[in-house]
Amino acid sequence: MEDKRPEWSSHLSFIIATVGSAVGLGNIWRFPYIMGKNGGAVFLFTYLLIIALICIIPLCCELGLGKLYKQDAVKTFCSISPKYKWVGWLCILTVTLIPCFYFVVGGWILNYIWIFLKNQLPQNFAIYFSSFSSQTFMPCFLTILFLIMTAIFPYRGVNKGIEKANNLMMPLFALILTILAIFALTLPGAKSGLLFMFKPDFSHFDKTMILTALGQALFTLSIGMGTILTYGSYMKDDTNIVKSAYTLIICDTIIAITAGIMIFPIVFSFGVEPSAGASLAFISMPQMFSQLPCSAFFGLIFFALLFFASITSGISMMETSVAAFIDNFKISRKKAAIITTAIIAVISIPASLSFGVLSDFKIFDKTIFDLLDYTTSNIFLPFNTLIICLIAGWSIPYFWKKVFGEGFLGGVFNILLKFAVPVILICVLVTGV
Ligand code: PHE
Repeated sequence: MEDKRPEWSSHLSFIIATVGSAVGLGNIWRFPYIMGKNGGAVFLFTYLLIIALICIIPLCCELGLGKLYKQDAVKTFCSISPKYKWVGWLCILTVTLIPCFYFVVGGWILNYIWIFLKNQLPQNFAIYFSSFSSQTFMPCFLTILFLIMTAIFPYRGVNKGIEKANNLMMPLFALILTILAIFALTLPGAKSGLLFMFKPDFSHFDKTMILTALGQALFTLSIGMGTILTYGSYMKDDTNIVKSAYTLIICDTIIAITAGIMIFPIVFSFGVEPSAGASLAFISMPQMFSQLPCSAFFGLIFFALLFFASITSGISMMETSVAAFIDNFKISRKKAAIITTAIIAVISIPASLSFGVLSDFKIFDKTIFDLLDYTTSNIFLPFNTLIICLIAGWSIPYFWKKVFGEGFLGGVFNILLKFAVPVILICVLVTGV
C-alpha cells in the first residue's frame, strides 16, 4: 500500500513518460512499413485524421478517468460501478500479456547490443537470427534479464524510478533517432526511400487501409489497457487533458515518421526489400550496418534506440499491473513489482521457446508468441477501448463536460464518444476476429 498517491513532479515529466509509453517498437518497426505499403502520403493523411478525430477520444477518456478517479484501472471501473470491475481486470490481463511477447524482443535487442559491442559480427544475419532465436537457454535468459531491467523502475516508484528513467532515456532516444535520420538522408538511396514512404497512391484508399491505420493507432498510443489511465492518475489537477492528449499524439507521430526517414533511405541504399518486424530490425538493418565503415558504432546506436523505445514502453506496461496490485491487494509497491515480474517471467519463457523447441506447439494455428501478439493487439485492445468509451460515454454523468469542456468542441467530442467511435471500433473488432 502506498501512503499517498504519487504525482509526476512536473507537467513535462508527465508528457515525457506518456510519450515514452507510446513510442515503442510499434513506431520503429511497424509504422514506416505500413505507411509505405498502404499508399504512403495517402495513408499518412488518413492516419492523421484518424488519430486527431477518433483516437483522441479514447485517449482523453483514459486520461480523464485517471485524473477524475486517481486510482488504478480496476478501482477506477469499480468506483464507476462495481459491476464494471471486470473491465479493469481485463485491462490488467491485457497489459500483463503484452510484455510476455514484447520482452522476448527486448531480449533479442540485448543480444544484438552485446554482439555489436564486442564487434563480432556474423557473416549472414538471416542465418544468425534464426539460429539464435531458436536456442533454448540464451533467449530465455535475456528475456528475463530485460524483464528485470524494466521491473527495477516500477519497483523504485513513480518519481525515483519511472520518471527518472524516462527523463534520461527519452532525450537519448530522440538524439540517436536524429543522428541516424540525418545520416540516412546522406545516403544514395535517400530519394527512393522517401518516395517509398511518402508517394501518394490513391489506389490503396479503401476499408482495409482505414482499419489498418486505426489498429496501428490504438497499439502505438498504448490505448485500451489502462496504461494511459494509470499514468493519468499521477497527473496534477490543473493538467489540461485535451492539450496533453494532442501533444502525445503529435510527438508519437513525429517520431514514427522520423523512424521511417531513418529506415527507408538505408534499406533502399543497400537494395534490400523493405519489410517490417523482426526481419527488418534483426536481419536487414544489422546486415546493412555490418557493411558500413563504422559498423559497430551504427549497429550499437541503432539497437540502443530500440532498447530505449522498448524499455520505456515496458515500464508503462508493468506499472499498470503494479498499480493495480498495490491498490487492490493492499500490498507494498516492491511486493507488487516482484509479483508482476514473476507472472510475466512464467508466460514469457514459453513465448521465447516458441521460436525453438516449442515451435510446433500451436493453438489456433499460431505459436504462443504469435497468439499473444494477435489476441492482445487485434482483439483485446479494440474490445477494451470500445468498453472504456461506452462506460465513459454512457455511465458517467457529464463525463464529456468534465473532460472536453462545454463549448462546441465538447459537444462534437461527446457525439464522437457516444456514437461514432464505438461503431468504428466494432468494425475493427469484427475484421480483427
Ligand atoms: N505503444 C507501444 C509501442 O508502440 C506499445 C505499448 C503497448 C506500450 C501497450 C504500452 C502498453 O510499441
